[in-house]
Amino acid sequence: MLASRLDPPPIAVHASVALTVSALFTAALVPVALITVALITVALGSLTGCSEAPDAPSVEFSAGERAVLLSLSPVPPPPASPSNRWADDPAAAALGHALFFEQRFSPTGEVACATCHKPEAWFTDDRQTAKGLAVTPRHTPTVLGAAHLQWLFWDGRADSLWAQALGPLENPKEHGTNRLAVLHVIATHHHKAWEAAFGPLPDLSDSSRFPPNARPVADDGAHPEAIAWAAMTATDRALVDGLFANVGKAIAAYERLLTPGEAPFDRFIAAVRAGDAAGAGHLSLAAQRGAQLFVSSDNRCVSCHAGPRFTTDVFFNIGVGQPAWSSALDRGRYDGGSIVLQDPFNCLGSHSDADAQAGQCKHLGFLDPNASGTVAAFKVPSLRNVADTAPYMHAGQYASLDEVIDHYNDVGSHHSAAGIKEPFLKDLDLTARDKADLVAFLRSLSAPAPSGTWAHAPGVTP
Ligand code: HEC
Ligand code: HEC
Repeated sequence: MLASRLDPPPIAVHASVALTVSALFTAALVPVALITVALITVALGSLTGCSEAPDAPSVEFSAGERAVLLSLSPVPPPPASPSNRWADDPAAAALGHALFFEQRFSPTGEVACATCHKPEAWFTDDRQTAKGLAVTPRHTPTVLGAAHLQWLFWDGRADSLWAQALGPLENPKEHGTNRLAVLHVIATHHHKAWEAAFGPLPDLSDSSRFPPNARPVADDGAHPEAIAWAAMTATDRALVDGLFANVGKAIAAYERLLTPGEAPFDRFIAAVRAGDAAGAGHLSLAAQRGAQLFVSSDNRCVSCHAGPRFTTDVFFNIGVGQPAWSSALDRGRYDGGSIVLQDPFNCLGSHSDADAQAGQCKHLGFLDPNASGTVAAFKVPSLRNVADTAPYMHAGQYASLDEVIDHYNDVGSHHSAAGIKEPFLKDLDLTARDKADLVAFLRSLSAPAPSGTWAHAPGVTP
């Protein structure tokens, strides 16, 4: 455990606030409006939890700790997406925006991407595991910042944002639709937006060539949609797959605009970077101590939750148990790695715009799903806005951040149902105050819920 050098000064905060306000009052020439502004600022400060005065004492970070902390902020723009030539195309993003909120894709007219990725809930939901047409086995991660990910889903079974988007559409428990039905909805309701992005949509009105419902069904060749798919010509199937890929590419172009907002931690780091060791008071002392615990070599959180999104984008079995309500064994990365290698929509597939010769798909070349440690390993999640997105872990096993910290503190007593728990993880020696400090730090990674045009269905005035 790392002891902080300073104890919290509960009185100092209020004393310095009082001083500022009374100094303003006694300065005869200060206009009343200014005093009002100062009072409002003080009130807002205490409401938003930024009640530490700018000159509040701060934790002393070592040079090493400081360097690591600086590496955690700010969030840069997302990397290029070579497999999606429309990744940064505004017309594709406008179409993707509409498709993300489109409920008519689902046969019940009730499920859209935004049903589970709710903008007002930081693009997640508050369920343990997601519910579309039925309850799914996994917890909904956020879409904010997903454009940074090399591997999508908890098990990384997609390798691009656009390939990921095709999964829920055809998942019977999510939208429960199929690629032909999706394209028919687009032909009826999004024709113009499609043309603006991709040019003319081929005529799909001949139902003997393009049935209302058809898709490949991996494990059930007798499914009516699989039979309809098999009855199509290979040329028409390839045409439909190309159009379906574009559906994903448009949605991905929209999702690339959804980035995590600026959190108090970012303002703190910006001030530290500018030379103010106290970080302009943007973090409480507890959160500063928590930051120190987070980067300490004793606790090693930052070994896995590194970089501005607090994830190394790799997979670990950290001993989170099988959820009590689920009997199906979840093998995580072990299965996800095999699925992405076989996915026709992966970086090497014929609908990818990447140049494999130039090494743009090399992540697939390095992937070995059978490598040790993949069984029941799940992707290290981003920790941005984590305090707002309970419950936690791949199946929502933990209800609160306190439970997550307890998991790490007593990791030796936790076991996943399969595979081998990462040996790197050792019991920690956190006191009650350390635990509270870590939670205070995690809370400082929260930006306000996204607002503005992109956080609403198109045409809805924010
Ligand atoms: C029924 C709820 C539901 C619907 C509908 C849904 N999602 Fe998800 N989303 C989830 C869940 C649950 C996961 C994690 C699934 C897994 O790992 O197996 C997920 C994962 C993701 C991810 C990966 C994030 C990460 O960190 O790996 C992205 C991006 C995403 N969804 C976008 C979308 C888009 C785009 C749509 C619409 C085409 C959509 N989702 C529809 C629940 C849903
Ligand atoms: C060995 C790598 C590793 C280390 C070290 C590690 N984590 Fe994690 N963390 C993960 C993985 C993997 C998950 C998801 C596991 C799952 O769902 O089964 C996770 C999940 C979380 C979550 C839940 C986030 C969410 O949205 O569900 C939080 C919070 C968290 N970790 C915080 C911490 C803190 C605090 C520490 C240090 C005490 C820490 N982690 C150390 C790998 C790690």
